[in-house]
Amino acid sequence: MPILGVNVDHIATLREARKTFEPDPVEAAFIAEKAGAGCITVHLREDRRHIQDRDLRILKETVQTKLNLEMASSEEIVEIALSLRPHQVTIVPEKREELTTEGGLNVVKNYTNLLGLVKKFKESNILVSFFIDPQNEQVQASADCGANFVEFHTGEYANAKEELLKRQELIRLHETAELAIQKKLRVNAGHGLTHYNVKSVLSIPGLEELHIGHSIISRAVIVGLERSVREMVSFIS
Ligand code: PXP
Repeated sequence: MPILGVNVDHIATLREARKTFEPDPVEAAFIAEKAGAGCITVHLREDRRHIQDRDLRILKETVQTKLNLEMASSEEIVEIALSLRPHQVTIVPEKREELTTEGGLNVVKNYTNLLGLVKKFKESNILVSFFIDPQNEQVQASADCGANFVEFHTGEYANAKEELLKRQELIRLHETAELAIQKKLRVNAGHGLTHYNVKSVLSIPGLEELHIGHSIISRAVIVGLERSVREMVSFIS
C-alpha cells in the first residue's frame, strides 16, 4: 500500500488570492498528517504564486512524517533547498505561464545539470526524485544520474477520455515502473489523481508514494480537509 503525500499548495493559492494570512498551509499540513497522510508536499515556485519561503521554513519544523519539496532546478531554489534540507526533493520542470506542472522533466536533455544536482543533494542526505513521463529513456537517464526515486506523471492517464487510451497509459506506467525497479529506482506517482481514478494506479509495480493535491483540496472545500484526506487514504489502502 503506497503512502499518501498530500500537496497543500492550493491552500496557499487561496491565501495568496487575498495576500492575507488564511488559510494557512502549515495548519493544513498538520490536519492532513493527523488524517493519515504519510508525506506533505509543497512546490516552492520561482514566482511564489502559492507557497512562500516562510511556509517552507515552518513546515520543515512542524511536519512529522516526510517533507517533500517540489522544485525547479534553478540556482535560487536549489540554494534554498540545500540550506533547508527537506527529507526529499522532487525535481520538476517549471514554466511561469503554466497552470500546473504540465509535463515531466527531460532528464535526457538536462543530464549533465541533473547529475551535478543529484550529487549535491545526496551529499546533504536529501533524497532525490525526478518527476518524469513514463518513458524508458527518461527512466534510464534518471538511473544513470543516480536519482533515488522517479515520480511518474500520471496526467496522461488521468486526462484520457477514452477507456482504450486510459488502459494504454496504465500499461505504459506498469512497464516503465518495471524498468525503474530493474534499475534500482524507487517508484512514486502523481498528477491529476482523484477520488475516482486513483484505484487503477495502485497496481503500478513498486509504488511507494502517491502525491495528490488538487482533488483532495477541492473535496476539502466541501467536506473538510480531515475527511477528504481520510477518504483518499481509505481508497488507496
Ligand atoms: N506531483 C507533482 C510532481 C506535481 O507537480 C503535482 C502538482 O503540483 C502533483 C504531484 C499533484 O498534482 P495534482 O494537484 O493534480 O493532484
